[in-house]
Amino acid sequence: MSRIAVLTSGGDSPGMNAAVMSIARSAALLDMPLIGIKRGFNGLIGKYPKPEDNFVELSMDQLLDIADLPGTYLRTARCVEFKELEYQQKGAQFLRELDVTGLVVIGGDGSFQGAQALANQGIACIGIPGTIDNDLGYTEMSLGFDSAVNVCVDAIRAIRATSRSHDRPHVVEVMGRNCGDIALTAAQSTGCEIVVVPEVKGWDIEDVARRLNSLFDRGNTRATVVVAEGAWRTMGEFDFHTYLESQGAKGSFPGQRMDAVNFARVLQAKVNNPEVQVRATVVGYTQRGTAPTARDGAFAFEAGAMAVNLLKHSISNQVIGVRNGRTFHMPIDTALKSKSHFNRRMFNMVNAL
Ligand code: ADP
Ligand code: F6P
Repeated sequence: MSRIAVLTSGGDSPGMNAAVMSIARSAALLDMPLIGIKRGFNGLIGKYPKPEDNFVELSMDQLLDIADLPGTYLRTARCVEFKELEYQQKGAQFLRELDVTGLVVIGGDGSFQGAQALANQGIACIGIPGTIDNDLGYTEMSLGFDSAVNVCVDAIRAIRATSRSHDRPHVVEVMGRNCGDIALTAAQSTGCEIVVVPEVKGWDIEDVARRLNSLFDRGNTRATVVVAEGAWRTMGEFDFHTYLESQGAKGSFPGQRMDAVNFARVLQAKVNNPEVQVRATVVGYTQRGTAPTARDGAFAFEAGAMAVNLLKHSISNQVIGVRNGRTFHMPIDTALKSKSHFNRRMFNMVNAL
């Protein structure tokens, strides 16, 4: 093994830097020179005119201090071209010219497909799960998920405090793309009364309003509805604009998409008690740009060390994950076929009131 490289790809996630630090330490201990590919697969296809924007030689000493930094030191990007064979071949050639024979890809399922494509081009590739969404079915942990959930928990606790003071229900929208894990875990952790996730297709807004009214009537005047951003795509058919117009409510326009603010408007129109004011908060990118929790940092350290060890033994086409609390690795293609780990039982428990 001559040189190895590392890149971060897709949405940045807390813990990516900790994994890069761990890779640098492990590589240094094995005397393996390390290259950092910048801006995901964009760097690999030499997208930028200045070479230093595409790749950089990394030394362990320059990386010792980055473990607790949010964001990604190597930068990240979404590289549409990399889905095409021509660019995958170009990426493999780019690495060969740098004398790199092994690559660690830190990202989500899209990035793993990129890693698989490079492995098919003869580059030994190892994937480390780095996405706040937790949408990789083969693993119990993905770098950033725990950190993102903790941001949501802090936000929800603060929201529930002010909601309590004012007897106001609140809609809180969190990230997760097509996965409801951030929403469900944050709702479980904070005792929220209603959670809405994309995994439950055709969910009914009337049902949410009915439950909110029932909670209010029973004295729970600050119920919190946590909505995963992807849930808007799987909502049962409901023309909220026409509905709000029919109720004489202001602030919605034809063609607007359903979001937390519009959801709160609809609930406002449907609450039994005219005194009730429904508010909305979108937690947003603070979920991604936070420092990693201890749990994410520790997994990053272990995953980085395992990735380098696999490359040292010329093992390729593997992704690292956690199963039954233990760090393990498995083939990328099997991992990508794993089913989602949506916890329907917990979903029902949160929504049981
Ligand atoms: P994530 O890795 O978090 O799932 P994306 O789905 O945005 O994020 O994928 C990140 C990047 O991975 C894409 O911008 C692209 O460069 C690469 N990628 C995604 N899908 C493929 C694919 N089918 N083949 C090769 N590369 C891919
Ligand atoms: O995949 C991580 C994620 O933060 C998703 O939760 C979200 O849907 C998406 O990325 C947002 O992507 P962008 O950074 O392109 O707005």
